[in-house]
Amino acid sequence: MGFLSDLRVLYHLAFKPVRGKDHAARMESFYSGQAEAYDDFRKRLLKGRQEMYSAIHPSAGATWVDMGGGTGSNLEYLADRIPLLNKVYVVDLSHSLLEVAKQRASERGWTNVEAIEADATIFQPPGGGVDVVTFSYSLTMIPDWFAAIENALAMLKPGGVIGVVDFYISRKYPRDGLRRHPNFTRAFWPLWFSNDNVFPSPDHVPFLHRHFEPLHFEEALAKVPYIPFIRTPYYWFVGK
Ligand SMILES: C[S@@+](CC[C@H](N)C(=O)[O-])C[C@H]1O[C@@H](n2cnc3c(N)ncnc32)[C@H](O)[C@@H]1O
Repeated sequence: MGFLSDLRVLYHLAFKPVRGKDHAARMESFYSGQAEAYDDFRKRLLKGRQEMYSAIHPSAGATWVDMGGGTGSNLEYLADRIPLLNKVYVVDLSHSLLEVAKQRASERGWTNVEAIEADATIFQPPGGGVDVVTFSYSLTMIPDWFAAIENALAMLKPGGVIGVVDFYISRKYPRDGLRRHPNFTRAFWPLWFSNDNVFPSPDHVPFLHRHFEPLHFEEALAKVPYIPFIRTPYYWFVGK
């Protein structure tokens, strides 16, 4: 069962053409056939999520917006804290993934979790200022990712926290203290991921450091299931 479900996800990742007249339709086209199998496979691919979510400690009554939150699986990393929060918005463009998020919230009794079908570059929560905004492996799928970060900045209260975890590549000449990836890494991963409309960027990390005061920042490498030898770079960042 596990292997068959992996095969279905691998088919979607490697072969199934992504169609759609706009970005929302392309997201739904990509995810609709793999929504149920999504969490299990991505647990092995999308590293650093638990570390990033666990590094954020909002006070009781806080509002948290998870942008590109998909099935809401990352809320499991803050499960015991959810009842203490005022509201958690899981914002995504894929209807199929949000259906899984709604089911999860209802099964867990998370009455303050709301799944919202909206674009992360423009969604603003009713009532304004929020305490936390997170992006887990969603910035690389948002073409105007800088607009998504600016939108997060606009909704965060003073002292609010942003958390991002994602694939990336380094700049050819990164500033001191940042990792430098070899030419092969910087050329290969954007090509590999472009089939799935995932765009690892050399600019996320500098942009985040420019706009937020870093509280935690790590760069690392992740194994890709079924692909031997090579590792894909990812980072996680928590800033104020
Ligand atoms: C790789 S998935 C990550 C899902 C989840 N955050 C996780 O860590 O498993 C990327 C998600 O970003 C969503 N997404 C892409 N572009 C978006 C946009 N402009 N606004 C909202 N969500 C978007 C996709 O639909 C998808 O659910």
